[in-house]
Amino acid sequence: MEKFIVKGGTPLKGEVKISGAKNAAVAILPAALLIDGVCTIDNIPNISDIRLYIDILRSFGAKVEWTGQHEITLDTRNVCASDKSLELTRKFRASYYSLGSLLGRCKMAQVGIPGGCNLGARPIDLHIKGFEALGATVDVSHGKIVATADKLVGTSIYLDIPSVGATINVMLAAVLAKGTTIIDNPAKEPHIVDVANFLNTMGADIRGAGTDVIKIHGVKKLSGGKTYSVVPDQIEAGTFMLAAVATKGDITIKNCIPEHLESVTAKIIEMGGNIDDSKGDEIRVWCNQRPSKLTIKTLPYPGFPTDLQPQIGVVLSVADGTSIINESIWESRFQYTVELNKMGAQITAQGQTAIFEGVESLYGAPVYTTDLRAGAALIIAACMAQGTTEIYNLSHIDRGYENIEDKFRALGANIERVTE
Ligand code: EPU
Repeated sequence: MEKFIVKGGTPLKGEVKISGAKNAAVAILPAALLIDGVCTIDNIPNISDIRLYIDILRSFGAKVEWTGQHEITLDTRNVCASDKSLELTRKFRASYYSLGSLLGRCKMAQVGIPGGCNLGARPIDLHIKGFEALGATVDVSHGKIVATADKLVGTSIYLDIPSVGATINVMLAAVLAKGTTIIDNPAKEPHIVDVANFLNTMGADIRGAGTDVIKIHGVKKLSGGKTYSVVPDQIEAGTFMLAAVATKGDITIKNCIPEHLESVTAKIIEMGGNIDDSKGDEIRVWCNQRPSKLTIKTLPYPGFPTDLQPQIGVVLSVADGTSIINESIWESRFQYTVELNKMGAQITAQGQTAIFEGVESLYGAPVYTTDLRAGAALIIAACMAQGTTEIYNLSHIDRGYENIEDKFRALGANIERVTE
């Protein structure tokens, strides 16, 4: 079993380069299943979720090779739905994007009912409604989801909730459908726009991604033959922004898009931190004072992202005064507060609200990562705390952050991965 040993108490200072976005890449890889040809995808983060997705794509018959440190070339001329993929697809959430792609390409798709981080109930009713509206039949039973269609025909689909997954899945299924599909109330996250840009580069006709209405004009074929570069990871960038505030450090975050992080920037300024994002592709964050208390509600983009809620929770655990976080996306995303309380925090979480009584400082303790972002939050907490923290269950962190300990170490953190 691996664990991190972190000796805390040092302000993090220096530069960090952000990798490609996990949540874009885990949608773009299966989106390539729609291409009757070859394509190359660059700026892919080398994380365990991506390595798993490569195995899933191979089980559908795709030829997938790493052609650079962060570059993958895919030959998806011969792909089909296969039950070889059922076990693999059960292992993580984003495997359900293969449903939309294979349904669109082969009119038949099946995946194991997907797992993923335990954040409470994670229904996929909106994905299914979208596929059915396009003309598919969907059966969920015996631990798998099977979608079939004679043909898919464009239609209007209103999403009750602006779901990231449902928006992408419906978009994927609609790319090769006959006629025009309109998605009303779609999610607007940067990775939605990135998936649409990738598909358009490969030959699709999708307009309005990132706005309130997405229109997908069905095309006969995606020919590929192009290279696409994945957008920088907004959540990884936000993680380091909050690490700078938490440790009273000074971090320049390179290769990011400041516009994607405006909600985070606003909260950092409200807490008394400083931001310079004038250069356009980097953000410098520094903080010389104890952060002030805050009230935050997580919301779909452009609101404050749920995927940065645990990281800002760490900052608020030592803020001056009492802060409140309302988590409006996931039912169960305060499990990390139990771990922070082991480090001296005073947090009371009930349902989707948590109250943070700011303490002067945290101290080191053994703690357990409960999901990906909780893991990142615990690393920040450990860097900020007095003494030594041991962080267990690293597989959650490795799913979504590339070389995380190297990046923290380059900023001055005393962090080591050891195998017990
Ligand atoms: N929802 C439904 N029905 C559906 C789909 C979603 O009720 O059919 C609800 C969910 O239960 C949730 C809300 O809608 O309450 C939003 O869910 P969404 O579909 O937007 O989330 P997701 O696609 O499953 C992605 C990210 C998550 C991130 C959320 C919200 C990926 C692979 N995952 O999940 O990322 O928290 O959007 O931004 O893109 C992470 O990276 O740590 C992570 C959990």
